[in-house]
Amino acid sequence: MTSTPLTRRMFVARSSSAVAGAVVAANLPSHSLPAADAAGPFQAMGTRAGEVTDTTAIVWTRLTAVPVRNNGGVVIPKRARGEPKRGNAESKVTVPVEQLEGACPGAPGRVQVRYGTRADLTDAKVTECAVASAENDFICTFQLSGLQPGTVYHYVSEIPGPAGAPPATAFRGKFATAPAPAAPGNLRFCVMTCQGYPDRGHPDGHPIYPAMQALQPQFTCLTGDLVYYDSNEPVAVTERLARYHWERMFSLPRLLEFNRSHSTYWLKDDHDTLSNDSGPGASMGEFTFAQGQKIFRQQAPMNHDGPTYRSFRWGRDLQVWFTEGRDSRSRNKSPDGPNKTIWGTEQKAWFKRTVKESDATWKVLVSPTPLVGPDRKNKRDNHANEGFTHEGDELRAWLKANAPDNFFVICGDRHWQYHSVHPATGVHEFSAGPASDEHASGSPGYDPKIHKFHRVRGGFLAVTLRREAAQSRILFEHRDVMGKVVYAWNAARAV
Ligand SMILES: [Fe+2]
Repeated sequence: MTSTPLTRRMFVARSSSAVAGAVVAANLPSHSLPAADAAGPFQAMGTRAGEVTDTTAIVWTRLTAVPVRNNGGVVIPKRARGEPKRGNAESKVTVPVEQLEGACPGAPGRVQVRYGTRADLTDAKVTECAVASAENDFICTFQLSGLQPGTVYHYVSEIPGPAGAPPATAFRGKFATAPAPAAPGNLRFCVMTCQGYPDRGHPDGHPIYPAMQALQPQFTCLTGDLVYYDSNEPVAVTERLARYHWERMFSLPRLLEFNRSHSTYWLKDDHDTLSNDSGPGASMGEFTFAQGQKIFRQQAPMNHDGPTYRSFRWGRDLQVWFTEGRDSRSRNKSPDGPNKTIWGTEQKAWFKRTVKESDATWKVLVSPTPLVGPDRKNKRDNHANEGFTHEGDELRAWLKANAPDNFFVICGDRHWQYHSVHPATGVHEFSAGPASDEHASGSPGYDPKIHKFHRVRGGFLAVTLRREAAQSRILFEHRDVMGKVVYAWNAARAV
């Protein structure tokens, strides 16, 4: 293994000098480029567990040519002050993508997952072998079924050696299944969003990751803008560069540890599908919105077909809804009216039907964009903006009429934390906030008529459910990037 670890000093130096306006390949020591060991392939991007229900889960891995990300690779600097803006089709990358900092080139091979309830895996079952190839970007997913509710599962993603030989490489992880639908809810989950790469705040990954992991959540929702194809260099003007953004981000040591420690649900937004406020039909250089949709589904531990909006039950007291905000949207510039939509007809009907049918004590929508806001005046991409007033009013009024006491919205997208209550309908919304302090900005300011809490800093949201005798309590905590509670609000209901 020949990668050079990225020290804190190198990270700070690179972050602050990344305005030079030129590729810095010439400064790199020749030994910093990755080289495959004799053994392999490897799993430098680790594993992910997702779409967990009380009896099923999906485990994800990607086979790589190198055991560790290319820590010593080329860093593409951001635009220097005064440097003319390039067109979206232009790239500053003049070296093969494998030579970029954080690259994890894929490798073909076979991989299987062993999983069981014992940490030593003595009770493990084994899946069929899956084949990783260039066609699927060397990504394999495994559908696990027949699991026990409310149970911790341990697993190992392993590349089997030649007949009878021990696995060539193995990567371990664990996750918890949801409680059975009738079981009381005593659990915690976290919600995060909007993670830049150069402004992540620590060379090993955003401080929110160890902070969230320390809370031992049952699951975490990664709520969009998980990479920034258009505003973090190198701009993803090709499919290969887009895939590189995921390799670089999700091979960071803190993200590897986080994703192996519990399960996650993934939602996409504009920057991790294509570009700012993007929708169907858009492109950036050679890279298209449709390719972005496909890549997100490959990167997320989720099904590769069917709707990307979905709902999960976590015991008697919690049901969560995850909505899709990019695939079915009208153009932002279209005049507002009954036909202008972000969710699309099918998703809206599904949402109303399933929320109405649910008998969960608490109903929580995790949305990649806000429903309540407030947002800045000049914005036009979400239900809190003037351009989507019609659908926003429709949804908020429907929630007031059909789920007035036990429904909450948690949103991604906005780069500040808030708890707001919509004045006309009483809909509560919690904005998780950006993944680092360095990424925070953009608020329209504190509005005492709407905000119960407002803070232009990074962090995440932790939600805890507790059974207390004959009632269930739900606690929302805004936490800063280190995990310190900066705001808390709770509600209780008889059960
Ligand atoms: Fe964002």
